[in-house]
Amino acid sequence: MTSLGTPLSPHATRVMLLGSGELGREVLIALQRLGVETIAVDRYPNAPGHQVAHHARVLAMTDPDALRELIETERPDLVVPEIEAIATPVLEELEAAGAVRVIPTARAARLTMDREGIRRLAAETLGVTTSPYRFCDSLAELQAAVDEIGYPCVVKPVMSSSGKGQSKIDGPDGVAPAWEYAMSGSRVSNTRIIVEGFIDFDYEITLLTVRAVGGTQFCEPIGHKQVSGDYVESWQPHPMSAAALRRAQQIAAAVTDNLGGQGIFGVELFVKGDDVWFSEVSPRPHDTGMVTMVTQWQNEFELHARAILGLPVDTTLRTPGASAVIYGGVDAEGVVFDGVDEALAVPRTDIRLFGKPESFVKRRMGVALAYDADVDVARANAVEAASRVRPTSR
Ligand SMILES: Nc1ncnc2c1ncn2[C@@H]1O[C@H](COP(=O)(O)OP(=O)(O)OP(=O)(O)O)[C@@H](O)[C@H]1O
Ligand SMILES: [Mg+2]
Repeated sequence: MTSLGTPLSPHATRVMLLGSGELGREVLIALQRLGVETIAVDRYPNAPGHQVAHHARVLAMTDPDALRELIETERPDLVVPEIEAIATPVLEELEAAGAVRVIPTARAARLTMDREGIRRLAAETLGVTTSPYRFCDSLAELQAAVDEIGYPCVVKPVMSSSGKGQSKIDGPDGVAPAWEYAMSGSRVSNTRIIVEGFIDFDYEITLLTVRAVGGTQFCEPIGHKQVSGDYVESWQPHPMSAAALRRAQQIAAAVTDNLGGQGIFGVELFVKGDDVWFSEVSPRPHDTGMVTMVTQWQNEFELHARAILGLPVDTTLRTPGASAVIYGGVDAEGVVFDGVDEALAVPRTDIRLFGKPESFVKRRMGVALAYDADVDVARANAVEAASRVRPTSR
């Protein structure tokens, strides 16, 4: 039996989000609707999730001592990582001591924190098909690895996301520049990179996979378009052959069963014909899954909230639809969004503005959503609506 308390009372069910960006904000809203008391943590004040939680905390989550002290002081029932850059050994230690439950598990947070843990687990332990890969700590090692893997190949810092420091090598002249670029884009002073053989896929998908009471459930596949390693558009459902879908679900089940716990996972897969490659997995809602705010009865954030609280979930699609990212376009604080009315004049659309205090040219500030029986129409409308929103500095 699952019982939920009353927020701000001695019997509150208390959940702490580590990372309170746009994805965390939606998880917090879903938790608020169930009367959960929420604690939003981020590294800067007035982050999107801070603005919708009962309690807002500002903290460097990579600082083990600060993180331990916060969790021990707040004593939440659940700790829910929303980002990768967290001092995960502290989570493992507190989980092992029975002091807290980490979503989905502290081990999953550690393994997915950098590209090496999850890649080795998937390819070497579970035998899942991935691109060929090597890990390297120097330009010389990279050159040796590329000589084995061949061209084209892709270089990524092991600690990075959203395409930072990532580049493709097409021939021998590209090796040194790719190394330099990776060093400039790494999240921490970590010089380790992964080099992967380039997969010439037909399309790529995110397969949202929910581990909840009653077993594992899959959402309809989400197609997406990446520009420089960052998602710009997503749509659902993406058509797949029955064989490819079966394979994709098998891979997602193998990886998420091993990671364990409860919650939603965004399993990233490449597909060519009936062949499927595992790329990576987020043990949390996925940015391309924002489309589910318009396409599913229970969006990915509601699915996550329900799953982690031990409640049943329903992954049924409501309508085909699409999402398109609204970028900052300017470097400024406190931007004003012009054209919201024009955006919403596009049929069957909606938007979310994340409330980020500071805009950067390439920062994701909002998302446009569209639904339509025809997924291509939804895509076109989402892109049109997004393009009509103009962040400006006054
Ligand atoms: N081996 C590969 N072959 C072909 N394309 C690739 C390969 N690796 C990555 N890509 C492309 O680059 C995109 C980003 O790569 P990846 O997901 O590994 O990086 P990321 O920085 O974690 O991105 P994000 O945070 O947006 O998920 C992929 O979605 C895919 O389009
Ligand atoms: Mg990715």
